[in-house]
Amino acid sequence: MNKGLCVYPGSFDPITSGHLDIIERGAGIFEHVIVAVLHNPAKTGVFPIEQRLDMLRRACGHLPNVSFDCFDGLLVDYMRKKQAHVVLRGLRAVTDFENEFQMAQLNRQMAPEVETLFLMTAPEHAYVSSSAVREIGQFGGDITPLVPACIADDVIRALKR
Ligand code: PNS
Repeated sequence: MNKGLCVYPGSFDPITSGHLDIIERGAGIFEHVIVAVLHNPAKTGVFPIEQRLDMLRRACGHLPNVSFDCFDGLLVDYMRKKQAHVVLRGLRAVTDFENEFQMAQLNRQMAPEVETLFLMTAPEHAYVSSSAVREIGQFGGDITPLVPACIADDVIRALKR
């Protein structure tokens, strides 16, 4: 097990300013953070996986100890493959808790060696989600406060199509 390593899994469809906050703080705690995008063939999402990874890479260009990958199947299998034992997740509000609690318990049952570590989202990002970005962007609303500045134009263009 690599104790300095954590995996931050998610859909990142697209990365939001809340995700970036968690990645930056995770990078300050761990020697290395792998941001792992779930590739779910049954749920294609709005942004193709390659574009999600590209936006993540650009938004995190200032973080040398962060790398990017995608995975399919079970998160615990990916954790074992990477010899990582900490899953990093952000908690925004009470509404996140139930789902996160269930995921953490299921993962623990399948892989007791895997710990889930939660960081509380900074209050200024507490209301931000990828689904809100997609919905607001599709109807022409201003998403610039919700996503990292360097990817905002790409997100706006892709959602207007
Ligand atoms: O950004 P999201 O959509 O909240 O991320 C959810 C994610 C990708 C972390 C979760 O759906 C996941 O780990 N999926 C992989 C399948 C899996 O391991 N399922 C068992 C635990 S519920």
